Parts: sequence; structure tokens; C-alpha cells
Amino acid sequence: VESRSGPRRGEVQAHRGASAVAPENTIASFRAAAGQGAEWVELDVALLADGTPVVIHDVSIDRCSSSKGNLADLTASDLEAIDAGSWFSPKFKGEPLPTLARVVSALGELGLNANVEIKQHAHHKSLDQLVKVVDQHLKARAAHTKIMISSFDAVALKRMQEIDPSYELAMLWSKLPADWLDVLWSIPAKTIHLDYKALSIGFLEEAVHRGISVRAWTCNDPKRLASFWDVGLTGVITDDPSVYLT
Ligand code: G3P
Ligand code: MG
Repeated sequence: VESRSGPRRGEVQAHRGASAVAPENTIASFRAAAGQGAEWVELDVALLADGTPVVIHDVSIDRCSSSKGNLADLTASDLEAIDAGSWFSPKFKGEPLPTLARVVSALGELGLNANVEIKQHAHHKSLDQLVKVVDQHLKARAAHTKIMISSFDAVALKRMQEIDPSYELAMLWSKLPADWLDVLWSIPAKTIHLDYKALSIGFLEEAVHRGISVRAWTCNDPKRLASFWDVGLTGVITDDPSVYLT
């Protein structure tokens, strides 16, 4: 078996797109990821007040746009006036806050696959509605676009499984809970996305032994993960794919 100290191309996921060089969770950041040779992007999905799914990390647009407001108070018609690029750099002025529909179509054009992270926020009317609308939008993807679903919310993954059992489902954790195996079985899911700071050789060996895949987030320093690839780490989520793809 070949020994390696880094990921294969298909194991690198651009976190919120190539968010080190472009405004996170925008078409520009996904285009930049493709430009760096990434095959996968990670993106965050949430709903506006009218149920429109959008690609954004926070519950408000304050940090990543030139406007202020909560997703709970915005509808699709408000998106046109939002500049989600200038906060990052003037060269991205006018970059839209994208709907999931727009992103799904861009993925096809850019030849990218996506790890779609479902964010469960307090303003969402129901988890079932959230998961259903996300699945409906993802069904419109190009035939060559691969999708995996991740969430910090085990029930969101369970609901997604019930709607379409063909998705790879990844449980997100910042720290590994004592009952991690029970939680995975309850979904059921076979993949963990773990904060790289919580990763250990011992845990990775046990996960591999149990047939569980593990990816690490959000690691921008390849040296930190070098010892894990040979033990069975199957991916990294990074703001800067270029550091792994040189
Ligand atoms: O998917 C890994 C990572 O995106 C989870 O944390 O807060 O960046 O969405 P966050
Ligand atoms: Mg995320």
C-alpha cells in the first residue's frame, strides 16, 4: 500500500468555497475553488423568511455583506440589493448573496461537487420543511454533480435519509461525543466531519475499524494532518485548497 502524507485531489473540499481568496459562500468563491483545482466545495444552506433557501453561514447578513439584517426578516426580493462581496475586497463589489438554486446551477457549470451543510436555525419554521426544500433544489442539479449532506443536527440528516437514502450523510462535530457511534447508528450515517483539532490517531483507527469515514475541518495547514492520511482520513475541508493541491 502506497504511503502518503497528503490528500488526493478528490479528498479536498473548499470550505464555503475558496474562502481564503474570495468572499465565502458566493459563486465567486466556488469559481475560485474550481480555479485552484478543487473538485469539491463545502457550502452552508439556510432559509429566508419566505422559505427561499440561500447559501450563507450566519443567521444574519451583517458579517458577510454591506447590509444588515436577519435571514428571518428577509425574502427573495431583498437579495438583489445585497452586496456580498465588498466586505471581503472591493474587487468583489456586487457579488450576490446566492440562492441555493443559483449555486446548484453554478456547480454544474463549474464542474464542482458539493458538501451541502444544512444549518438548522431558530427562525426556520420546521426542520422537515427545510430538508424537503433543500432536497428539491438539489434534485435540479446536473447529472455530473455529486452531492453529500452534512449537519451538526442529527435529525436533519435522518430526515434527509428518509426523503432520499442515496445521499452520503456526514455528522458534524466540534468534539467527539461519548455516544458518537450510537448517534451515527440512529441516523444511520457512516461519515463524520470532525474539527481537525479533535482528531487523534486512536479515534481514527477505531472509526476505520468500524467502517466509518472521517473528514477533518477546517484545516489550512497540511502539516497538521500529515500523520492521519495513512491511518485512513478520507478528506479535508479547507479555506485554501491550493495548499493541498500544489
Ligand atoms: O463543514 C465543516 C464546517 O463548515 C462546519 O462549521 O461553522 O464552518 O459551518 P462551519
Ligand atoms: Mg459549514
